[in-house]
Amino acid sequence: MTEQHENIRVETRGRTGIITLHRPKALNALDAATLREVVAAAAAMDADPGIGAIVLTGSGKAFAAGADIKEMADRGFSEMFRADWFAGWDAFTRVRTPVVGAVAGYALGGGCELAMMCDVLIAADTARFGQPEINLGVIPGMGGSQRLTRAVGKAKAMDMVLTGRQMDAAEAERAGLVSRVVPADRLLDEALEVAGTIAAKSLPAAMAAKEAVSAAFETGLAQGVLFERRLFHGLFATEDQKEGMAAFAAKREPRFTHR
Ligand code: CAA
Repeated sequence: MTEQHENIRVETRGRTGIITLHRPKALNALDAATLREVVAAAAAMDADPGIGAIVLTGSGKAFAAGADIKEMADRGFSEMFRADWFAGWDAFTRVRTPVVGAVAGYALGGGCELAMMCDVLIAADTARFGQPEINLGVIPGMGGSQRLTRAVGKAKAMDMVLTGRQMDAAEAERAGLVSRVVPADRLLDEALEVAGTIAAKSLPAAMAAKEAVSAAFETGLAQGVLFERRLFHGLFATEDQKEGMAAFAAKREPRFTHR
């Protein structure tokens, strides 16, 4: 099933939902309409128990070349503040279904920040990551100063945020920003394989796993470990835990029903 939107393409393959940023005239720059479409598509997939993983990718030369600069250029502080510009993207981080980000070409500014909101991040060898906002007289505004620092540490985050320089895919992998790098023509297949692997697991377990790892960014160690343990205990209420452990003992593949 393929649905048409203005700035994205939405598709379902098996238990994987695919959101493709597609605004070629602006290198997929993330304007307000794109935000609305991405967040709505992701929320709809999240609400569908038939979807076990989401792939978010770009098209053409870019994952996304940033927030839409032309849309922001003439606005004043009061307007940006009252609208709480970019706050809408927080909804994307509340999606509970695991999201695989697949980045080819430019992931700059808001594009890099959106990529970092994904749970598993895969890069094509053509990927370029950067936070060039300093060149525009501003700073990252969709979480870059926080998520990049947590992902790659202070040294590289300061370097990138202060100079605006780009990281290529190899450096991004070395720095821990992405989990794998693949040739560009393999990117979507690789992302779909990863998503398919995740989508075949127990959905409650996959959601709990995402929540537990995400909690590492929000809590202290003791609290995070306790949160993990309680989620672990809770999974013993699922049919999938019974099936997964029975299948192991019987030396067969588990048949998860996502309940
Ligand atoms: N916003 C609006 N339009 C953009 C855009 C953006 N972020 N990035 C590219 N475009 C537009 C260009 O204006 C151009 O449109 P026209 O054909 O109408 O002139 C079209 O997309 C193609 O872009 P280029 O001709 O510039 O393509 P290029 O291959 O020569 O360069 C690039 C590619 C280096 C990525 C360059 O487009 C660029 O530097 N883009 C801006 C990157 C940037 O600064 N991103 C940060 C934005 S601010 C932000 O994201 C804030 C935040 O924290 C959320």
